[in-house]
Amino acid sequence: MSSRPKVTVIGAGNVGATTAQRIAESGLADVVLVDIVEGMPQGKGLDLAEAAPVVGHDASVIGTNDYAETAGSDIVVVTSGIPRKPGMSRDDLIATNAGIVGDVVKAAAAASPDAVLIIVTNPLDVMCHVAMKASGFPRERVLGMAGVLDSARFRAFIAMELGVSVEDTHAFVLGGHGDTMVPLSRYSTVAGVPITELLAPERVAALEQRTASGGAEIVALLKTGSAFYAPAAATFEMVDAILRDRKRVLPCATYLEGEFGIDGLFVGVPVVLGRSGMERVFEITLTPEERAAFDRSAAAVRELVAALPA
Ligand code: NAI
Ligand code: 2OP
Repeated sequence: MSSRPKVTVIGAGNVGATTAQRIAESGLADVVLVDIVEGMPQGKGLDLAEAAPVVGHDASVIGTNDYAETAGSDIVVVTSGIPRKPGMSRDDLIATNAGIVGDVVKAAAAASPDAVLIIVTNPLDVMCHVAMKASGFPRERVLGMAGVLDSARFRAFIAMELGVSVEDTHAFVLGGHGDTMVPLSRYSTVAGVPITELLAPERVAALEQRTASGGAEIVALLKTGSAFYAPAAATFEMVDAILRDRKRVLPCATYLEGEFGIDGLFVGVPVVLGRSGMERVFEITLTPEERAAFDRSAAAVRELVAALPA
C-alpha cells in the first residue's frame, strides 16, 4: 500500500484510459481502471504500469472488473457508457447510460463512501442526477465534467483566431453540456482583455457557435466515436484541483440550491474545487441576455431530467 491518494476510473474506453494515463503519469495518485469487459482493463492497466519506468513515475495502475479493488478511493471518475455516434445527439444516450451510471455508481459508492465523484458520461448533467441519487452523496461530492472541456475549446478557438498563446486566454462556458451551452464572451479574455473588445461581434458569435458544437465537430471527423484527448485533459484538471486542494475556480456541473436563481438542478457554473470537492459556488453577475441564455440551457437540462426513467 502506498500513501498516495487513490483514484478509480470507471470505463476503460477512450476517455477513461486516457484519463488514467494522465493521472498515473502525473504521479499524483494510484489508479484503478474498471470496465465491464473482461481482460481489457487489466490489459490497459498493465500496459500503463509498464510505461512507468520510461515515463518515470511510481504510481501504481491496475485494471479490474471487481469493485472490491476500488475500495477507499479518494476520487471516482465515471466514464462508463456508450459514446455518441454520428447523427446521434447526447440526449439519445439517456436511457442506456442512466442504467449503466446508476449501477456503477452504486457499486463504487459502497466501496468508497468518502469519495468525490466526477461524472463524465453523457448526457452529462442528467447523469450527474443519476449519480447523486445512486450514491446518496451530498452535492459537494458529486461533480460533472463539461465546463472545463467546453471552456478549453473556446480558449483554443480564441487563441487560433487571435494568434496568441492558449496560456494567455481565459474563458467561461456555463449552462448544460449540450447545444444550449452558454459561452460567456464578456468574461472570456486574452491577458485580461475581454474578447468582445478584441474581435468584431460576428467573429465572437462564430467562436461561440463553434464552441457550442465543438463535440459534434470532432464526432463528424472521427466517425467512430467522440472526443477523448481534451475530455481526459479536462477531467485531469479537476482531479488535480481536488487532490492538491488548489481551490481552482472551474466551471463544473453542480447541483444548484438557489444559486444563480436555480434550485434542484445540475447545471454548469463556476465553482471552487478543493480537497472536499465542490467547496463553493462562485456566483457571477449575468446581463439580461446572458441570464436568458443560461435559463434556456437550464430549462433544457430540466426537461431531460424529467425524462429519466423512475
Ligand atoms: P468508450 O466507448 O471508448 O468507453 C466507454 C467504456 O465504458 C467502454 O470500455 C465500455 O466497455 C465501458 N462500460 C460500458 N458499460 C459499463 C459498465 N456497466 N461498467 C463498466 N464499464 C462499462 O467511450 P468514451 O469515448 O470513453 O466516452 C465515454 C462517455 O463519456 C460517453 O458517454 C461519452 O459521451 C462521454 N463523454 C463526455 C464528455 C463530457 O464533456 N462530459 C466528453 C467526452 C465523452
Ligand atoms: C464532447 O463534447 C462527446 O460530450 C462530448 O466531445
